[in-house]
Amino acid sequence: MELSVGQVAKRAGVSVSTLHFYEQKELIISYRTASNQRRYKRSVLRRIAVIKAAQNVGLTLQEIKQALAHIPLNENVKKEQWEQLSTIWHQKLEEKMHELKQLQTQLGSCIQCGCLSMESCALYNNNDSNGISGSRSKTQFPKMKEINGH
Ligand code: FES
Repeated sequence: MELSVGQVAKRAGVSVSTLHFYEQKELIISYRTASNQRRYKRSVLRRIAVIKAAQNVGLTLQEIKQALAHIPLNENVKKEQWEQLSTIWHQKLEEKMHELKQLQTQLGSCIQCGCLSMESCALYNNNDSNGISGSRSKTQFPKMKEINGH
């Protein structure tokens, strides 16, 4: 059974323009009738569910496309495939949460500080990206208060 664009939009809870956008990005595929109307296989509903879930996780459309690349556009996303994808994305979220927790801790030390020093502010000089630690003197990196004249 094939579905019209309106039927898919209603059942998937997305707008028709979203379906066109997904199709333009090659995340889903449709077929044309003899009268040039879009038709979708029922399997598109499950694929859209995966796309929406991935977007809610925070993945970009490009990342979603890469993740779904091994599943042909006209095939159903099988339960095992969804389990594999959700496991990978769960791990990504864990990593992201760990990074955010570290940022929150670093930001906590900035509250009521205001130094914005490359030498002492871990948030500003995250991971010592400029190789500041031990290589330059403190005076080369003025504090924000000094820049502003306060
Ligand atoms: S430690 Fe971040 S502003 Fe001072």
